[in-house]
Amino acid sequence: MTSLNPTVSRVIGKFIKEDWLDFVFAHVNPMLTLNRSMAKVVSVTEETSDIKRFVLSPNQHWASFKAGQFVSVRVMLDGVYVERCYSLVSAPNEPLIEIAVKRQPHGKVSNWMHDTLSVGDVIELGDVGGEFVLPAAVPDKLLLIAGGSGVTPIYSLLVQALSERVALDVVVLYYANTADDLAFAQEMRELTAKHPGLRLQFALASDGDIGFFSQEQLAAACTDFEDRTTYICGPAGLMSAVTSVWKALGIEARLTKEVFGFITADPDASISEMPITLQRSQQEFINSKSSLLESAEAAGARPAHGCRTGVCKTCSCTKVSGVVRDLLTGAIDDQPNTQIRICISEPLSAVTLDI
Ligand SMILES: Cc1cc2nc3c(=O)[nH]c(=O)nc-3n(C[C@H](O)[C@H](O)[C@H](O)COP(=O)(O)OP(=O)(O)OC[C@H]3O[C@@H](n4cnc5c(N)ncnc54)[C@H](O)[C@@H]3O)c2cc1C
Ligand code: FES
Repeated sequence: MTSLNPTVSRVIGKFIKEDWLDFVFAHVNPMLTLNRSMAKVVSVTEETSDIKRFVLSPNQHWASFKAGQFVSVRVMLDGVYVERCYSLVSAPNEPLIEIAVKRQPHGKVSNWMHDTLSVGDVIELGDVGGEFVLPAAVPDKLLLIAGGSGVTPIYSLLVQALSERVALDVVVLYYANTADDLAFAQEMRELTAKHPGLRLQFALASDGDIGFFSQEQLAAACTDFEDRTTYICGPAGLMSAVTSVWKALGIEARLTKEVFGFITADPDASISEMPITLQRSQQEFINSKSSLLESAEAAGARPAHGCRTGVCKTCSCTKVSGVVRDLLTGAIDDQPNTQIRICISEPLSAVTLDI
């Protein structure tokens, strides 16, 4: 038995605690759960020296997604559940799903996936989310800019856009260190054979200046970039350089961004040492880091989280009372009982959270 009938699941779930039931099921078949999406690894391939592709077969609780969205992957490491987001690179509505993971130096989950996760293993999938998707009508002219592992949602958008408009005028500008670091390059080259409107531009750091983003390099690679609806996903440096150019030209509204990395705290910023209360877990501590999530972790708490960048909403919880500042937008929230993302919230007063 690999799946439970949804009606049976609902009836059982009314009488027996879900966690306990899933725990028992896991001993029979880890893919068998009441509601949680689980996925079995069906293949692992090395895409580049530091990117691996994982093809996963999800159970019946997996719902669909849009090209460009991410899924949160939940794994148990050293007895603690940790979640990370990974962009889905397979096309929506396919029975198998695929993610591509870059090994991050000292990174917990990416190294575990590279070194330990193997064919036949089962992992848990959390929510699907993200606004990095195409509009209902694919624009006439697209520019897709990728840097490093940021190619994953870009590749997904490219495939989707071309499936909707075969002759679409689309330029892919992909920054990487060397030709060996290009992921999905073969698939993209194959797409050019079927789609005459697709132009690939690989910019390699190993080629010197022409491999690094600058307004001149961009204008040479894509002369009409200002006229194109643009999507970008890549390292922070590339993202901010591209954003500056679009801002200076007054076309920032045409730029859609996906952020993979951390919110880097300003090392000179002072930490507001406010008392924080986690109501349900009955824990109190003094804020010691820039975000409430980091402070709670430093105090030994383990709040649910995923991206740590304000994207996935896994860390969302009710702020019962207190004043917080949004580290991304600077917005101040002083109202009781509001939903906040603790990974991007800094306390400005004593704060009580419903955690
Ligand atoms: C929407 C979204 C989509 C994403 N899609 C992809 C994708 O398709 N492919 C992909 O490979 N990644 C993707 N990511 C990134 C991914 O979610 C993980 O962040 C990444 O795999 C690193 O996780 P980790 O557990 O290995 O590293 P972590 O343990 O979280 O550490 C990450 C890096 O930060 C450093 N670090 C950790 N803690 C600290 C600290 N306290 N101070 C300084 N440095 C520290 C580590 O050394 C490491 O280099 C995505 C992220 C988001 C938000
Ligand atoms: S952990 Fe993803 S929004 Fe906070």
